[in-house]
Amino acid sequence: MKGREIRPNVYSVGAVDWDRRLFDSLIPLPEGTSYNAYLIRGSERTALIDAVDPAKWEILQANLEGVEVDALIASHGEQDHSGSLPMLAEKYPRAELLCSEKAKPILIDHLHLDPLRIRVVADGERLELGGKTLRFLYTPWVHWPETMSTYLEEERILFPCDFFGSHFAASALYADLNLVYEPAKRYFAEIMMPHRPQILKNLEKLAPLPLDLIAPSHGPIWRQPSFIVERYLEWASPIPKNSVLIPYVSMHGSTQRMVDALGDDLVRRGVGVEFFNLPVTDPGKLAMALVDAATVALGSCTVLAGPHPLAAYAAFLANMLRPKARWATVIGSYGWAGKTVETLAAAFTMWKPEILPPVYIKGLPREEDYVLLKQLAATIAKKHEEAGLVS
Ligand code: FEO
Repeated sequence: MKGREIRPNVYSVGAVDWDRRLFDSLIPLPEGTSYNAYLIRGSERTALIDAVDPAKWEILQANLEGVEVDALIASHGEQDHSGSLPMLAEKYPRAELLCSEKAKPILIDHLHLDPLRIRVVADGERLELGGKTLRFLYTPWVHWPETMSTYLEEERILFPCDFFGSHFAASALYADLNLVYEPAKRYFAEIMMPHRPQILKNLEKLAPLPLDLIAPSHGPIWRQPSFIVERYLEWASPIPKNSVLIPYVSMHGSTQRMVDALGDDLVRRGVGVEFFNLPVTDPGKLAMALVDAATVALGSCTVLAGPHPLAAYAAFLANMLRPKARWATVIGSYGWAGKTVETLAAAFTMWKPEILPPVYIKGLPREEDYVLLKQLAATIAKKHEEAGLVS
């Protein structure tokens, strides 16, 4: 076996994917990723927690060489962890496949696994391996409804699958906090943010567990579990920071001037500002900024009769990620007519911010337009102040 021992008879046996640059055909992976799987050997039985993306099956297979597995634990049905379960089920014909109640139909539908091979475990159920005890804890919506965590009681290790993960390829087993902070926040923003209320419930549920290690199924293992738990409490909290996110796109400079003017005035009023010029923006960085912002001021020029497609993309992304931002507005310039403001505001169907008065003008901004932008900045600053937001 080629696995790496993290505790006596507990091994990391997954695969690092150094070259992957896109996930879900959407999410940039500037630092690659890993698909972590963990082997736990008791005196009587051996369990494997999670598997790997099918593209890395050969690595998992090599890491398991000479090992007999009795229990295959599927924390989550998404294929980057479950996709090689069919190969494992064939390799270990006597192994039982354990999962949560909601995972069973997902595994059957997505992987065509034999239902007779699958045993549903209850929330809180234990599996004795012989000197090693696994406790299964349902932790739904991190980030699918069926997700389950596994707690190794004797070693105080939590295996939470995607929860607390990071897309970060590394040869090191353990997280360097300086290196992994940003990938972990990026991962939270892209994957976890829409489920903030459920994340807080799961954090509360797991809080009584003594933890020595958190071993997620992406990225390095957390040797200081409180670090990532505290970050999750902060990121999932409903309280935003005193900051405005301004994603924008400008074709001939009018919208750019408006964005600059609004940003300058906000800064003068003590409000933090982050600008993202959409044609050259990494959507992951934009998602990270959405974790903290209290207001989103979307800047868009009008193309033909509607928003620039990149502004529409940003609006759809924000709506999908359902950030904690409480206010939104639109600023920009049109050529002769159009429905840019209405189209962008209508995109917010799941994320429901209060829409502040837009500033949408014809052509190059005039003095009176800059007055409107100052009024908008004042409105935003007042909202933030009344909510007691801090930077
Ligand atoms: Fe890493 Fe939701 O799969």
